[in-house]
Amino acid sequence: MSLDVTAVRGRFPALSSDVALLDAPGGTQCPQTVIDAIAAYLRESNANLGGAFAASRRSDELVTQAHDTAARFLGCRPGETTFGQNMTTLNFALTRALGRTLTAGDEILVTRLDHDGNIAPWLELAHDLGLRVGFIELRDDTTLDLDDLERKLTGRTCVVAFPLASNALGTVPDAARVVELAHSAGALAWADAVHYAPHGPIDVVALGVDVLLCSPYKFFGPHLGLAYGREELLRGWRPYKVRPAADEPVGQRFETGTLAHELLAGFIAAVEYVEELGWEAIQEHERALGQRFLDCLPDRCTLYGPGTMNGRVPTFAFGIVGASARQVAERLAERGIAVWDGDYYAVEVMEHLGLQPDGAVRAGFVHYNTFEEVDRLLAALADL
Ligand SMILES: Cc1ncc(COP(=O)(O)O)c(C=O)c1O
Repeated sequence: MSLDVTAVRGRFPALSSDVALLDAPGGTQCPQTVIDAIAAYLRESNANLGGAFAASRRSDELVTQAHDTAARFLGCRPGETTFGQNMTTLNFALTRALGRTLTAGDEILVTRLDHDGNIAPWLELAHDLGLRVGFIELRDDTTLDLDDLERKLTGRTCVVAFPLASNALGTVPDAARVVELAHSAGALAWADAVHYAPHGPIDVVALGVDVLLCSPYKFFGPHLGLAYGREELLRGWRPYKVRPAADEPVGQRFETGTLAHELLAGFIAAVEYVEELGWEAIQEHERALGQRFLDCLPDRCTLYGPGTMNGRVPTFAFGIVGASARQVAERLAERGIAVWDGDYYAVEVMEHLGLQPDGAVRAGFVHYNTFEEVDRLLAALADL
């Protein structure tokens, strides 16, 4: 069934303004149901866990429901899910826990496509433990060089960390092959799904990944992080936790302190929203928006990243000769078009493309964007 974009937009209060919000890669807007769920929790159930009284019992139930919902969203068991402040904080925590099993000389591979949230935690761990971090290079078309990955795997490689989609260029690596290569060398496959999550379904079992991280604020929910860890793996790690906190379910060992319960309520509503629309309708519309952008991008713009809608999500980094990325973003903002500029923490990609320190302009489309917004952007780019 195709998407009724007008009806969709009517559900998002933030989309009622005239500004074309093409800033989704930095964070998406929330439908009213998400906003209501957060407010309702604070109004009616605000309490800590484990008490004998009604609001605390409702909070216990909410936390359970949030883990059940996370499991549905990721295709795993509820006990394999962990909530945290955001992806970066969770990744520092999980890499630290894994680090307790590693020794000097062990190797980690990351990719030039990664956001620094899936690079810096490894560099810091390497700094503390004497590990070695290698980078998987990109081919000219910005796809991941899987031959380079194969060459760099050794008997000491413990982890291959990679993104399901590049937050800078939109490139979608061949995750199945990355996982296969990692496992063939006895390494863990550690996926960053933050940028992919608003664009398509995630099934950690089908992907075969050992750890996967995402951020609900990138898929129509509130500012939160969410991680999956394969149960047998998590059970082998010693968590950094306070002694009285429960050891079961295992994923919750890695949740430190009191969670933002109101945001868990918003998270549940966000997943229900996506489930109601269905990925098929979302992907069909997004693909059409992306195709329109690619077909009509003015010649004066240089696109970085895949030139077709195959092997990518509709996130586009580009430049205009003679203008800095910030200048272009400012001119677009004056015309009521919100886009990003800079490196968006994808520092390795930008270095690789020779675009630092200025970075590139980035426009990202999600299902609530319209053809009219794409056309407005294209017309502005032709006219700047
Ligand atoms: C691909 C990717 N990974 C990681 C992150 C970091 O996510 P968080 O802000 O939840 O720490 C981002 C944020 O933009 C991202 O796009």
